[in-house]
Amino acid sequence: MAENLTAAANAEVNQSYLEIAGVSKRFGDFRAVDDVSLVIPQREIFALLGSSGSGKSTLLRMLAGMETPTEGRIILDGQDISALPTYRRPVNMMFQSYALFPHMTVEQNVAFGLKQDKVPKDEIAERVGKLLDLVQMRKLAGRKPHQLSGGQQQRTALARSLAKRPKLLLLDEPLGALDKKLRMETQLELVNVIQSVGVTCIMVTHDQEEAMTMANRVAVMSEGKLVQVGDPHDVYEYPNSRFTAQFIGMTNIFDCILAEDAADHAVLKSEDLARPIYVDRGIGGMGTAHGKLWYSVRPERVALTRERPSGEYNWFEGTVDDVAYLGTHSVYHIKLNTGRKVMAHVLSTQWGQDKPAAYGEAVYLTWSNHAGVVLHA
Ligand SMILES: Nc1ncnc2c1ncn2[C@@H]1O[C@H](COP(=O)(O)OP(=O)(O)OP(=O)(O)O)[C@@H](O)[C@H]1O
Ligand SMILES: [Mg+2]
Repeated sequence: MAENLTAAANAEVNQSYLEIAGVSKRFGDFRAVDDVSLVIPQREIFALLGSSGSGKSTLLRMLAGMETPTEGRIILDGQDISALPTYRRPVNMMFQSYALFPHMTVEQNVAFGLKQDKVPKDEIAERVGKLLDLVQMRKLAGRKPHQLSGGQQQRTALARSLAKRPKLLLLDEPLGALDKKLRMETQLELVNVIQSVGVTCIMVTHDQEEAMTMANRVAVMSEGKLVQVGDPHDVYEYPNSRFTAQFIGMTNIFDCILAEDAADHAVLKSEDLARPIYVDRGIGGMGTAHGKLWYSVRPERVALTRERPSGEYNWFEGTVDDVAYLGTHSVYHIKLNTGRKVMAHVLSTQWGQDKPAAYGEAVYLTWSNHAGVVLHA
């Protein structure tokens, strides 16, 4: 592993290490994966997000060689691997249920693939030792899987996946079996190990926070297609559709029509809102073709006050319909006089010595004219 580490650190990053070119998978008439193209640089951690049945595992399985694409090509480090059988691919897939061999110790589990490949004994011992250090399992090397915690099992499985030095590591719901707190700790450990080894990694998760914590880039999948690809911040702040906006994080979406569109501002009207929405930039006449567009504003960008705000364009009156106290902040559901409910996240510290706004109280919602995103789909 040591020379691998140095090599990884010194090598120039290949910007198109993995190329997925027009890949589809049909089961009968059904397209589980529909014309996916994606280029992944070396050493990237890439996360696939999407609802159940959107094709994430199928795409991963094609990369691993467990399914054959109906169309398209997969090129890894200059080699077309589309037709290679699983065992000949320099790819390793780690599953949700880690499938450690129950009768083998941690050390034997990690060494298994190397033994099968008839790697010399000394070399196995050295490589396994380094991996166990890396995932902090050296002290527990003699234990069997049932004597380990969920997090320890997960780390052992990761070490086993890395033993054969794959060019591509695939993780399908790697932390699915862990509870929330352990999951968050393990996410960062996993990233540290993956980065120190320098392996390129594609992971599938349905937990958007996990994807955003771990990945350099995320893709949102729906009905077999990639609907948006970008770094976590961009995908969260600039969703390209209602689907992405709602899939990643919470948001308030309003059906709108365009009332005014100038170079430096736009005005939208919605039946859900008693007043118009002001936007700090023009939207170039888009949306006028079918007359309809949507406006998305995240709850953390919606401010809640008892006094009517001054100096803001976007303010709306309502009453508190529901409050969920979450410690650092509360999630408020405010019912506007149109009947529409709007979510606002309010930091607990906002209230200072005052009593937090409670059920039934009259309040105002405000957001700035650059807080939201105009969506065309
Ligand atoms: N071997 C198969 N034969 C027929 N249909 C299949 C097969 N494998 C998967 N599918 C279908 O393809 C679609 C995508 O499945 P896939 O397992 O890729 O979804 P996923 O995004 O991983 O979902 P989840 O989040 O539930 O794991 C689903 O509708 C599934 O039923
Ligand atoms: Mg799946």
